[in-house]
Amino acid sequence: MNAAAIDGLLAALERLPDNVPLRINVAKLLVQAGRHAEAIDHLNLVLAIDANNVETITLLIDASAALSMQGQVGESNLESTDGPSAQPAGDFDWHRAEKELGHSLPAPFVEDAPDGDPQAISVNGEGAGGALFDIDRPVVTLADVGGLEDVKTRLNESFLEPMRNPEVARAFGKSLRGGLLLYGPPGCGKTFMARAVAGELGASFMTATMTDIFDKYIGETEKNLHGIFQAARRAAPAVLLLDEIDAVATKRSTLSGGAAWMRQTVNQMLLELDSMDARNDGLFVLAATNHPWDIDTALLRPGRLDRMLLVLPPDRPAREAILKHHFSSRPIAGIDVKKIAARTEDFSGADLEHVVTSAAEKAMMESLRKGSVQAISMAHVNEALKDIRPSTQSWLQTARNVVEFGNANGSYDELDRYLRARKML
Ligand SMILES: Nc1ncnc2c1ncn2[C@@H]1O[C@H](COP(=O)(O)OP(=O)(O)O)[C@@H](O)[C@H]1O
Ligand SMILES: [Mg+2]
Repeated sequence: MNAAAIDGLLAALERLPDNVPLRINVAKLLVQAGRHAEAIDHLNLVLAIDANNVETITLLIDASAALSMQGQVGESNLESTDGPSAQPAGDFDWHRAEKELGHSLPAPFVEDAPDGDPQAISVNGEGAGGALFDIDRPVVTLADVGGLEDVKTRLNESFLEPMRNPEVARAFGKSLRGGLLLYGPPGCGKTFMARAVAGELGASFMTATMTDIFDKYIGETEKNLHGIFQAARRAAPAVLLLDEIDAVATKRSTLSGGAAWMRQTVNQMLLELDSMDARNDGLFVLAATNHPWDIDTALLRPGRLDRMLLVLPPDRPAREAILKHHFSSRPIAGIDVKKIAARTEDFSGADLEHVVTSAAEKAMMESLRKGSVQAISMAHVNEALKDIRPSTQSWLQTARNVVEFGNANGSYDELDRYLRARKML
């Protein structure tokens, strides 16, 4: 389980401080992650509620022992991970490899454009020393998004159709106010889907990634947020994606006094969202997050980001489509996409891409050894699959806890149904 998933659970815990099973669970995960000191704090909190909890006492003893061990061997452990063998496969030096091979490799090995949308023309937003946002006119459409048929249907009904036919929508009383929040595990196509929505509408697409804005412009975020919304209005009709919105929308209630600027940023975002309707300006706001449970609920009220749409890991047909897409630009021989799709349940779109690039890397190594170009075969794919685990599982675990302990108002019914269908609840 990665740090982000643990963070998600910690956030859930902040809302449910008295939930003993959840806290014990968090403590266990912290122990697994080697964060023994934090685990001990949580276990002590559990004991404050339930002094005779045997499981907790046992865990506490183990964690304390592990902590003192960590103190003794911690430094030498760190050194040992630093050897030359620790170089990740992704750092493979293609240029050197090409030189050694004596000629450059055929085009199929060349990397894809970042978003698979090479015709799009990008312009960067204003702002000294870097872009505040990216704007372009995407040519990808929903047809380019593999699978996810339910999500597409709902996007069509709740967003695209009313937007294409504003008069009809108004007549039926369907408000065009408000934005849509896409949520789900990382790498499953939220950002990609938002681009496709803009592509469908022939609208400009602007992305403002909240984490970037914070990294670069701490303290100026209110002004920048306003600037982004203004620029989006000027570019109308436009779809504005507020990506990784949990960064800005971390619950106001969990912020300490030092984070006053963050609170102001949330308030500014509320202001911008509320003023959207009044100007009726052809600006449509989408937001995306991996951690909807961290979002200030004020942002989710009617007229704001009031509809949540779950973007799940690709199902089997979607996996086939994604795999095909990534193989299409590479030399392959005897690749059985159906078979790979059947073996990659829970893999995200990004994981599948990783499988293909990693198989390509293995074919490349073999080419180097043999001195001639070897196409990617199932053997390479099988090798790659040995090393790659689906990255969505820790997210699903976090989601499970949130739904189990925090779905009182029904916001996560869609997720609840999915987890039940998978027998995770
Ligand atoms: N359903 C999908 N169909 C096609 N490609 C996908 C799909 N899901 C993910 N991908 C691929 O994975 C990449 C990462 O997806 P992204 O939209 O950035 O994920 P997220 O925003 O949910 O973290 C995309 O650029 C795309 O190439
Ligand atoms: Mg994204």
